[in-house]
Amino acid sequence: PFPCLQPQPADPLLSLAQIAGADRRPSRLDLSVGVYRDEAGRTPVMRAVKAAEHRLAETQPTKAYLGILGNAVFLDHVRALVMPGVDAQDVAAIQTPGGTAALRLAAELLAAGKPDRTIWVGTPTWSNHLPLLGEARLDVRCFPAFDIATQAPLVDRMLDIIAAAAPGDAFLLQPLCHNPTGVDLMPDALAAIADALAARGVVPLIDIAYHGFGRSLDEDSERLSALLDRLPHALLTYSCSKNFGLYRERAGALFSINRGGALRDLITGNLQALARTSWSMPPDHGAAVVATILGDAALAADWRQELAAMVARVHAVRQALAGHGVVGAIDLGPVAGQSGMFSLLPFGAELVARLRGDHAVYIPDSGRINIAGLAAERVDGFVAALRAAQMR
Ligand code: LMR
Repeated sequence: PFPCLQPQPADPLLSLAQIAGADRRPSRLDLSVGVYRDEAGRTPVMRAVKAAEHRLAETQPTKAYLGILGNAVFLDHVRALVMPGVDAQDVAAIQTPGGTAALRLAAELLAAGKPDRTIWVGTPTWSNHLPLLGEARLDVRCFPAFDIATQAPLVDRMLDIIAAAAPGDAFLLQPLCHNPTGVDLMPDALAAIADALAARGVVPLIDIAYHGFGRSLDEDSERLSALLDRLPHALLTYSCSKNFGLYRERAGALFSINRGGALRDLITGNLQALARTSWSMPPDHGAAVVATILGDAALAADWRQELAAMVARVHAVRQALAGHGVVGAIDLGPVAGQSGMFSLLPFGAELVARLRGDHAVYIPDSGRINIAGLAAERVDGFVAALRAAQMR
């Protein structure tokens, strides 16, 4: 009944985590999927999340459907948290099953709004971006946007691409906690890119999956504001997986920002129609937890504090790694100044394979390290493995 189906390869990132999980060597170190771990290697349920869950269990009056747009209180709180300077009247919003569904819905909206649209994607990027955008029938075009040897974003290249793009094209942007490089654009570069996008009429698709993992929640929002303030139109996808530790609950949102408010109803109606034929209505629990936390001053303060401590832990690991300087041919120094969960170093396929085979250290073929998954006390062991793997 399915003559055209072809066998599909396993997702390279998620299957690597499974392989790592099955490795019984005591030195096993899984730095693959972007999941935060504490010093004991656990991915904790955050305190405020547990408290909100207890509260919901006691007080939630119904499990009736949420409606296609999802939890309006959640959407309001998240919008105010991530883009406090943007007028609510200019924003169409929909809750989605995680940030991935927000991206998929955004891509489908872009394709529905202009069927021949090209989306420009600077590489390297998240391993799911390209397949996901392609599935939505967008014409996906890649260009190199990062120099791994110098660990520098290729800002001029990005500006050239935007200048040569057709009006109405889209441009994928990760302005905070870039996955996989950990290298964020400086504010002046971000401003130049925003101005170029606005001047050319290119629509940015802004992927925010690590809000708060950069400097702090508020500083990350400020950085984002400097971008959004210059843009007449933008799509913004948001994930609560990392900053609320709600990974499996699939709490996310898509916001469409259009200044002047005129497009809001049109976009909302189209988002509803697209979501209805896909997941129909989003899952409740994760968004209800986020709405409960952000609607309660004490829970919100506790969440902020715990998130700040998690982010401080990641920064401390970055400092410890960078303190080792140059290890074989790899300079760990730049890791200190990078942000978010990841860094992308020039490991190469052979080194990645040796780390796995000889040292039970798992990183994806790209060489991306999930620094948020590394305990400070295991930094020395990781560096020793990195040195030994290069000497063999
Ligand atoms: C990652 O990049 O590791 C995370 O965003 C998890 C995922 O879904 O790939």
